[in-house]
Amino acid sequence: MAKRTVKDLDVAGKRVIVRVDFNVPRKGDEITNDNRIVQALPTINYLVENKAKVILMSHLGKVNHKDPEKTEADKAKNNMACVGKRLGELVDTKVTFVPVTRGEELEKAVAEMNDGEIVLMQNTRYEKGESKNDPELAKYWASLGDLFVEDAFGSVHRAHASTAGIPSLLPNALGFLVEKEVSMLEKAVKTPEHPFVAIIGGAKVSDKIAVIDNLLKIADKVLIGGGMAYTFMVAQGGKVGTSLLEEDKVELAKEYLAKAGGKLVLPVDNVCADAFSEEANKMVC
Ligand code: 3PG
Repeated sequence: MAKRTVKDLDVAGKRVIVRVDFNVPRKGDEITNDNRIVQALPTINYLVENKAKVILMSHLGKVNHKDPEKTEADKAKNNMACVGKRLGELVDTKVTFVPVTRGEELEKAVAEMNDGEIVLMQNTRYEKGESKNDPELAKYWASLGDLFVEDAFGSVHRAHASTAGIPSLLPNALGFLVEKEVSMLEKAVKTPEHPFVAIIGGAKVSDKIAVIDNLLKIADKVLIGGGMAYTFMVAQGGKVGTSLLEEDKVELAKEYLAKAGGKLVLPVDNVCADAFSEEANKMVC
């Protein structure tokens, strides 16, 4: 199916909001893998070369908004400044990092942009309304741009203000990364070559159950990794200590193990530790 992409938009001189996924791994303030920034460069460079004013938005980590002390600690830990610095090294134009998510400083930075320049906004999750797809927040962010480009492949499954709210208010299109990933997935799912082995990770069974369901219909094997593997292991009668577990999904995991008839494959060994720390005592079980 043909998708509207950034190439279908007339971007010259326009303020283009691009939702990217710059949720990069870090150690302190140091980015340990910049792949997600690099993967967004084709769209960013295209917009810069075509004289758009490029406004980048992304989340980084998670921010607790229930306990004010935790909110401040999470904000400090997930400040986007390190991403702005790295992005500045990777592109050939001016990058202005704006350390806030709304207000005069942000609006002024956008108003002062020249064509072909980039503004990177602070972490979208500094805003409580982001993950609730708050209409007021989406409207405010949308007011900063003329067009919207969705290029946050790792986040398009989230109905948040920056991923779903803004594009409901502005003319929009896919970026090159999302276009590429969608067409690869479409090919794999619609015309699969066998043997077809799918590998799926993630923290929660509940987030992925529809995907597992579909994959079981077309794949020869579905390999489960990541945090959700522990819910399946408990369903098999295993013990997982304090590892991630969705207790209310254990029965569902049992059902899927029974219905998959050997198609679902779980990890055969695990690294166990006595603390969530690099200094912990570890062993492979
Ligand atoms: C990811 O790293 O999986 C994506 O950036 C999405 O992050 P989230 O699970 O915190 O929404």
